[in-house]
Amino acid sequence: IRRKKKSVVDHPRVASYAFCFDIDGVILRGPNTIPEAVEAIRLLNGENKYNIKVPSIFVTNGGGKPESQRAEDLSKRLETEIRIDQIIQGHTPMRDLVPLYKNVLVVGGIGNVCRNVAESYGFKNVYTPLDILKWNPAVSPYHDLTEEELICCKTDVDFSKTPIDAIMVFADSRNWAADQQIILELLLSKNGVMGTESKTYNEGPEIYFAHSDFIWATNYKLSRYGMGALQVSIAALYKEHTGHELKVHRFGKPQVGTFKFANKVLSKWRKGMLDEHLKKLSINDPNASEADILINDEGEEFINQAKLESGNYSEDEEDDETAADKLGELSLQDKITLQLPPASTVYFVGDTPESDIRFANSHDDSWFSILVKTGVYQEGTVPKYKPKHLCDNVLEAVKFAIEREH
Ligand code: G3P
Ligand code: MG
Repeated sequence: IRRKKKSVVDHPRVASYAFCFDIDGVILRGPNTIPEAVEAIRLLNGENKYNIKVPSIFVTNGGGKPESQRAEDLSKRLETEIRIDQIIQGHTPMRDLVPLYKNVLVVGGIGNVCRNVAESYGFKNVYTPLDILKWNPAVSPYHDLTEEELICCKTDVDFSKTPIDAIMVFADSRNWAADQQIILELLLSKNGVMGTESKTYNEGPEIYFAHSDFIWATNYKLSRYGMGALQVSIAALYKEHTGHELKVHRFGKPQVGTFKFANKVLSKWRKGMLDEHLKKLSINDPNASEADILINDEGEEFINQAKLESGNYSEDEEDDETAADKLGELSLQDKITLQLPPASTVYFVGDTPESDIRFANSHDDSWFSILVKTGVYQEGTVPKYKPKHLCDNVLEAVKFAIEREH
């Protein structure tokens, strides 16, 4: 059996723990990048004294742009490549709704961007409030469409004959008055047809919100009202009109659906990093084949090195041989996929107790919540949801977690 030396492992290993970052108030404040974020990400990319890379993803309630654009923007700001597979926006999991609805009204964001995002998810007939205003400007009496808005409108739709099956608020409304008027009219309509009124108030379309943040941190001194505030406003108007509570479907943090989605994305990302790590190991030793790595002692050692860094594997040799025997013809990649355990700890760094800390604390004990002081949370106040750790900024959060792990 050919011997291989452990010293081939000279590039960073992959950590068994992972990070999940909120964006607004942690990485960004409005158009500005929080300066400490650049070094925080550098540390996770292997530039640390432990020579270890830590898998990380971003879970923002924000949206209103394609995930690819968000990744590109973060890459520039953080001076490293952030890939689309690391990004979850408030509306990202809403792509799972594609099979359920034919005609959807997508609300929020600038111009046609959210329509384009929804179409990229696979929604077939995507309309916006601007299309409805173009169809009949009297829908919202005090708003005249601007030239920029007119360019974004569909011109050939008769909304008195086109039922809206679902309303999806993808991003913050740029025109609360018109958007609320249209949303309320549809909720109170017969089958989502404009100009109709249900007597029973139960014939309108379903309504989905990409998140429920009441406030959020921008580059203004005080927090600003967010999509959650619009939701409160619509529900209040609905109740005033009908006497009933509005039934709303919520995505984003702290919802459990988004948590499950984030775990899926994170495990895919971790697996990708491990695959890359293993590929580098075999490149470093050109004589190694997959079979070598699978069957010989030192080969086993290679796999175990990667696996041990990524989870709680037994170092017991006999166990490893049995596992290798059982796996038989499976490729190295399959073997890792099959055996990749969940991250040992996921450090979630957020600025909003109600969404971020609640999100990280509510669903799985292996998630560790860290609250930073660069966003919604104000120093000296008592957070409604208590973080496991409180610190100044994202860099402090990363340093704290790395030291806690080693
Ligand atoms: O509209 C975005 C905002 O409500 C929060 O974004 O990144 O803090 O989850 P984030
Ligand atoms: Mg935030």
